[in-house]
Amino acid sequence: MTTRRHRMLAATLVAAMLLPGVSDAQRTRRPRARPASRNDASADSVVLERRAARIADSLLARMTLDEKLGQLTQSPAGYGQTGPTVDAAGEKDVREGRVGAFLSLYGADVVRKMQRIAVEESRLKIPLLFGYDVIHGMRTIFPVPLGESASFDSVAAARSARIAAIEGTAMGVNWTFAPMMDIARDARWGRIVEGSGEDPYLGGVLAAARVRGFQGDRLRAPDALLATAKHFAAYGAAEAGRDYNVASIGERQMFEVYLPPFQAAVRAGVGSVMASFNEIDGTPAHASHWLLTDILRDRFHFDGLVVSDWTGVWELLNHGIARDSATAAKRALGAGVDMEMSSTLYRSTLAAEVKAGRFPLARVNEAVRRVLHAKAVLGLFEDPYRQISPEREARDLLTAEHRAAAREIARESIVLLTNRSVNGAPALPLRKDLRSLAVIGPLADDAQSAIGPWSGAGRAADAISTLEGIRKALPNTRIIHARGAPVDTESTAGFGEAMRAARDADAVLLVLGERGDMTGEASSRASIELPGSQLALAQAVVRSAGPGKPVVAVLMNGRPLAVQWLADSTSALVESWFLGVEHGNALADVLFGDFAPSGKLPVTFPRATGQVPIYYAHKQTGRPADPNNHYSSKYLDLPWTPLFPFGHGLSYTTFSYANLLVSSGSVRAGDPLVVSVGVTNSGKRAGTEVVQLYLRHDAASVTRPVRELHGFQRVTLRPGESRTVRFVLDPGDFALYDLDLRRVVEPGTYTLWAGGSSEATVSAEVTLTGATKVLAPAPPRMR
Ligand code: BGC
Repeated sequence: MTTRRHRMLAATLVAAMLLPGVSDAQRTRRPRARPASRNDASADSVVLERRAARIADSLLARMTLDEKLGQLTQSPAGYGQTGPTVDAAGEKDVREGRVGAFLSLYGADVVRKMQRIAVEESRLKIPLLFGYDVIHGMRTIFPVPLGESASFDSVAAARSARIAAIEGTAMGVNWTFAPMMDIARDARWGRIVEGSGEDPYLGGVLAAARVRGFQGDRLRAPDALLATAKHFAAYGAAEAGRDYNVASIGERQMFEVYLPPFQAAVRAGVGSVMASFNEIDGTPAHASHWLLTDILRDRFHFDGLVVSDWTGVWELLNHGIARDSATAAKRALGAGVDMEMSSTLYRSTLAAEVKAGRFPLARVNEAVRRVLHAKAVLGLFEDPYRQISPEREARDLLTAEHRAAAREIARESIVLLTNRSVNGAPALPLRKDLRSLAVIGPLADDAQSAIGPWSGAGRAADAISTLEGIRKALPNTRIIHARGAPVDTESTAGFGEAMRAARDADAVLLVLGERGDMTGEASSRASIELPGSQLALAQAVVRSAGPGKPVVAVLMNGRPLAVQWLADSTSALVESWFLGVEHGNALADVLFGDFAPSGKLPVTFPRATGQVPIYYAHKQTGRPADPNNHYSSKYLDLPWTPLFPFGHGLSYTTFSYANLLVSSGSVRAGDPLVVSVGVTNSGKRAGTEVVQLYLRHDAASVTRPVRELHGFQRVTLRPGESRTVRFVLDPGDFALYDLDLRRVVEPGTYTLWAGGSSEATVSAEVTLTGATKVLAPAPPRMR
């Protein structure tokens, strides 16, 4: 269809939809007039918002009940020889108005085809939403979100999301199921790879940045994706780290730890929220009115669209809170799930329930309005095709500019965990004039793993493996490659070759860890040690290399791994996660010194699986760990401390901290506080430090974590250069949930720390005076 023709069609559609005649019942819980995007607060956007409401009202007045339930249904695409596809039955559903959205259907041609059926052949000509998991890139794949979070760089997070949106929309997607913002403190849980790690503050900052990146300045722009805050909520607290398991947490943990990133995403204007698979205290999230309505709508003022997770509505039968499909559907829609993904219980059961008076039509209308509203704010009624074309698709994917961004963000995501001295100099960076380098390990040439799980339309063929990156960086060095061992079996057949390579080369690089498919959904592991015979391989290689030769270990993985031996026994240890299409290039930039590492761990690394869940913001307990007291909180067989703490990461230079100062040693509870700290590059080369600020309430009405992150800034300094870094703490930074779950700032003393990790030692104290200040009343109790 020509552009002119679809513009005309769009005009007809809009005109047809602006019809009067909507009942009061249909007007219940109307989305508040808010800007179509947080950054689009102009008068123009208010006009657009009103128009979106009118479109929804007018359509609702004309829809049959079946058409309404169709709008609440999201169908998965099939997969054909050339990619995602929809079969004849799916096309018929669109024609008959039985589908409101597709899932995992992308590609300019197929999306245009389905949209054409919707807007030309269905009775009401309502355009479709096309949702997909654009998680860390569409075709240009960026570091997995956990890895990217190690950059502590919200600009980078927004940038990768923006590029993902440009590429995703070029392939016809208009709705992404990202960002994932589940706080995860148990590394066994495979989905830890999809989020920002263990910390609610970092999680909130990055969630908001990613929402802004995906949605852009205007949701109506043809390169904006409607973002989804997922999974709501506490999915990351899966008991024993086993995916889909129950979350056994209390309300306080819910509000303090698991919900803040969602609230940050709502404040950033996120357009949709996805319910989580888990139950909390007896109620699956998909059936939790408390979570999806009392908290999300009424407390957080979210007015977008709530979508179920894949068959999440149907799974209420398995949860054992519904005997039949109709009950499951009623519980989910009644709780606040507007659109059903993959299963079709709304469509197949609710018409009869509404007609028999067993389910309120008003709730159906409300959900439909939200779906239509989302379509309207995306501009689909004006341009259902959003300028998708094979030409744009060919032009906008994997451009040189996108690849360059992927390389820059990947370098920032790498964390230097240890760097020992070998023959009087740090092992890293390695010299570029090495005569020979042994590259050993099962992951070194694995380009598929480099792009990690949830890799959109990414292709291994686009990705630079570690080996390839090294070969390109060292064209004059003899590279001896030996896999040594498989990733996850006990075979030792390749050890001999690997040991010879280690003996013969000037330096050794061990590339170990997990394959890309060993984290992600349904990829929990009971043990987070190195899988298979990789540890034995590393031990054999280190032995064979002998003393005085650098043996650098590089981890590829999507979760913290318990690698105590590697940390103790190799010359340097580097965390490279799954860095995306530029994996090998970015890693080579760091290994050979073109880029000084600056990443910091967004999650604690334990010494052994038995320590999980382990996280820095733990409670003190009545018996804090004390080596001199047997009856204190620790283990008999292991130190209580982590292998690497949250926030840890070295550079090729060093930084020192001094003069942590507060604007006043005593302020009234509820007033802001300015904190400053001096940071100096005390080493010999330029580098970037992530300056971190932590806070503890020393004695409160309820117990508090030993410290919590409340600010961070990336600072680049030349050797010898100093900078004063300032943070403004507002009342919310001092707040806690009191015994009644009111959000309050209590008077008392608070300790602050600033430094380069959660073990920062430079500290100051501040006293808050006056009366307790209430920032927010208690939320409705969990039910
Ligand atoms: C996952 C979601 C994802 C959905 C659609 C589910 O299994 O839990 O995170 O968005 O599938 O692919």
